[in-house]
Amino acid sequence: MIKSLAYLGVHSPDYKEWERFGPEVLGLQHAGHGEDGAVRLRLDEAAHRITIHPGERNAIAYIGWSVKDEADAKAIGSRVVAHGLEVQRSAPDENAQRKVEGFYWFKDPSGFRHELSWGQYHAVAPFHAGRPVSGFRTAEQGLGHVVLAVADLEEGDRFYREVLGFHPSDIVRDGPLEAHFYHINGRHHSLAISRLPTREVAFLHLMIELNSLDDVGTAHDICEQRGIPITTTLGRHSNDHMISFYMYTPSGFRLEYGWGGLDVDHDLWIPRTYDKPSSWGHHRQHKELTALMMHDRAPA
Ligand SMILES: [Fe+2]
Repeated sequence: MIKSLAYLGVHSPDYKEWERFGPEVLGLQHAGHGEDGAVRLRLDEAAHRITIHPGERNAIAYIGWSVKDEADAKAIGSRVVAHGLEVQRSAPDENAQRKVEGFYWFKDPSGFRHELSWGQYHAVAPFHAGRPVSGFRTAEQGLGHVVLAVADLEEGDRFYREVLGFHPSDIVRDGPLEAHFYHINGRHHSLAISRLPTREVAFLHLMIELNSLDDVGTAHDICEQRGIPITTTLGRHSNDHMISFYMYTPSGFRLEYGWGGLDVDHDLWIPRTYDKPSSWGHHRQHKELTALMMHDRAPA
């Protein structure tokens, strides 16, 4: 059983910009570099959760999930194999890079690389935010959530529910927009999938959640002062109640910076359908910049 979103890895020619963007804009801690020069970023007791690797183009490299132990990773991996996909075990140098005991990885039907990891390293030194923030809401809810545009929404829905074990939270249907949201812990959704009119596969955004609305407002000020494009204005989502805005990161993907996400109790939860993604705000702007970030098509 997948417990939470553990980490995210990205390739980017502008990876070095994250040494300042991470701490100064997002309040993350710069947690040193990987062997390839990757910028590692920390937001809680985990050694690092966001890693921006050097790369020729912007692409999502891997999406890391936490499972309890190797037996759980193996059990999910065998369902992935039964689904007709190839699963591989991590090499020791990969474990050292990710700072986990191990992981099994595979590419999902849309080509995104997922890693089922166990034993994520926790740093002994306390988290030290890059700028004053009240802190990030993580713990058993993990890093945050990721939203993917998949090639085939019905196939994706079946795969994430039936093979990986994600639980449906709700669906948003608003004109051409159809998005499916899934929980694996108390966070309303750790994963959502959508379909673009072009049927393109894309990484739509990463969400990280703050402990205070003031942290979100302060980041909004910093984005305005620094001319960082706000791609979706401040607003509140209809389904998870998150008050957030979306900014354009140096690596071509959008980051949702939010507060106030809804907790779900899986035993009591009944999936719903909403006719709008947001109750107010969240107006799209800078459409020319919301270039969709593809996953890494390069052979692993
Ligand atoms: Fe989101």
